[in-house]
Amino acid sequence: MSARVESLNAKSFELPARMRGLQPTLIRQFFERALPDSINFGLGEPDLPTPQFMRDEAARIARDEQNGYTSHPGIPALRDKIAEQYPHLELPRTGVVVTCGSQEAMTDAFMCTVEAGDEVLLPNPSFPAYDACTRIAEATPVYYRMPADGDFAFDIENFKSQITDRTKLAVVISPSNPTGKILTEENLKQIAGALEGTGIWLISDEIYSDLYFGERPHSASEYYEKTIIVSGLSKSLSMTGWRLGWAACKDPELINAIQVLHGFTTVCTSTITQKASLLAWTDEAEEAKQIARDVYKKRGEFLVELFKKELGLNSTSPEGAFYTMLDVRSLGDDIEIAEKFLQNRVVTVPGIAFGDEAKGFLRISFCNTEELMAEGVRRMKEVL
Ligand SMILES: Cc1ncc(COP(=O)(O)O)c(C=O)c1O
Repeated sequence: MSARVESLNAKSFELPARMRGLQPTLIRQFFERALPDSINFGLGEPDLPTPQFMRDEAARIARDEQNGYTSHPGIPALRDKIAEQYPHLELPRTGVVVTCGSQEAMTDAFMCTVEAGDEVLLPNPSFPAYDACTRIAEATPVYYRMPADGDFAFDIENFKSQITDRTKLAVVISPSNPTGKILTEENLKQIAGALEGTGIWLISDEIYSDLYFGERPHSASEYYEKTIIVSGLSKSLSMTGWRLGWAACKDPELINAIQVLHGFTTVCTSTITQKASLLAWTDEAEEAKQIARDVYKKRGEFLVELFKKELGLNSTSPEGAFYTMLDVRSLGDDIEIAEKFLQNRVVTVPGIAFGDEAKGFLRISFCNTEELMAEGVRRMKEVL
């Protein structure tokens, strides 16, 4: 071995900057420490069964058909169905890339829009993956506040105040993880107004867009052309493990870059999943989505009332997704309280996991039967 190679080998390895300091989220950390027989208010994973027609179709496809690679961006018929979901965009098939869950679409979208030196505008509080994706893409996260004291509603003045000449990308999510709040049409128009002419890209995370309890939420893409929609079937059809997501965007250069990156990272998502997912826009699937909306709406109302009645605590009234933010500011530090609940076999997530605006809150997901949730609240009461 040459002296030069030996001296290179002697250097201790350091992870590349993009990976340094990245940790699994607090959501996972709490979940993984759960005691046996815990009630799970932690993970955002639907407990409703994947619709039977979907399982049967996937089983048939696995048994009867040859399932090789699909083209990188997905099977044409599926891309067409996804494109039709956004009639206002008049997307060609090439405007859609089918990905391994919306998480992959999101990571791809970050990697294809920003680099070192760029700033990314993220909601505070928000899903921790946005911060991680920003860092993996070597950009800098900057936060706009969804004020806790304003029920975590959108605040255009705060959003505008965080835009600088380095801002290259912004992210919105509606319905929101962690707050369960929906951006109004007015909010989305304000966002479009603030971004128009700046060249800033907008990622619209619409993974919960089928789970709404009032009017169907609008898509940011209706108001702002440089929007990249990130969505999928995980939450609306209880298909988290199937890994069916997509990115959709009107800009040919950007969506082509996403397609190329996707090809080099995952090639294509499971062919069995893709073929079965053609059924995700049928009447049967619409019925299943409606059932999910009805179930989560009822559970959300039940839980908010129970927190008030049994614990004397307020929580945000859910407008979509399956989350509420429980206000524990009167009791102390959210991490300590979540820890105490964990020891009494109730998994929750401290609000700080989503940003300092949610400090003093716990994110509660209601992916549980009413009976299990009542038991969870009983255990929480025991602790308090
Ligand atoms: C806000 C948000 N976006 C994206 C995802 C990723 O979901 P998937 O990759 O299963 O589509 C999740 C999952 O919890 C989420 O909560």
